[in-house]
Amino acid sequence: MKKLVVLSGAGISAESGISTFRDSGGLWDQYRIEDVATPEAWQRNPELVIDFYNQRRAQLEHCKPNKAHIGLVALEKFYEVHIVTQNVDNFHERAGSSNVLHLHGELTKVCNSDKSQVIDIGYRNTTSEEKINGTPMRPFIVWFGEAVLAMDKAIQITQMADIFVVIGTSLNVYPAAGLLDYVKKDCPIYLIDPNEVITKKEVLFINKGASEGVSELINLLL
Ligand code: OAD
Repeated sequence: MKKLVVLSGAGISAESGISTFRDSGGLWDQYRIEDVATPEAWQRNPELVIDFYNQRRAQLEHCKPNKAHIGLVALEKFYEVHIVTQNVDNFHERAGSSNVLHLHGELTKVCNSDKSQVIDIGYRNTTSEEKINGTPMRPFIVWFGEAVLAMDKAIQITQMADIFVVIGTSLNVYPAAGLLDYVKKDCPIYLIDPNEVITKKEVLFINKGASEGVSELINLLL
């Protein structure tokens, strides 16, 4: 089977009711990154950080995967599909995708300070008092300024792609956006987004929202 690799971003979950980050009215219009998504924010005001992720987790519990997530599962009948996602939601897994790699962590998990221990907590709220083996328990999220530990694996997956698909990401955040540089020369790159996305790569642009775009992708590929 040919290998189809997807790089997904917040836009794929927009139709599930979760805001993107950089669209107008998006999460980074409502919060400052430096208040909720950096190690310094965690040191300064852990309650604010915990509250931000508690809200995200609670919202996730009440939303569900959309047709785009589900369409990518359908492609598994014809392709070996690997999803590399920047999203911290669990929609790809809940839709039934077999291979999902999270670059920026997962909302339903927490960890200790050096991320050596990761625990699944489902959708429950956490508090800043909780500990893992005596060290503060924190969201299992890659904050700005932290290493993206899954990057090496993501590069390996990208390098073996026969078809590469980018869905719903502004390609603003590195190193994730740099994955496109590892796509093989002869590998077609499809990009699904209702808005223009700036990239120096030559892409086959499907100028649609994620659900419609994935359905068009399926028509093109099958
Ligand atoms: P952005 O908010 O930067 O970009 C969202 C993209 O989704 C934009 O290109 C939109 O045009 C597109 N979009 C909007 N509605 C869509 C729809 N219905 N269907 C398809 N696409 C749609 O989100 P990301 O690129 O994912 O990291 O952001 C990358 C990282 O920045 C996130 O993982 C997060 C954030 O800060 C951390 O918090 C560490």
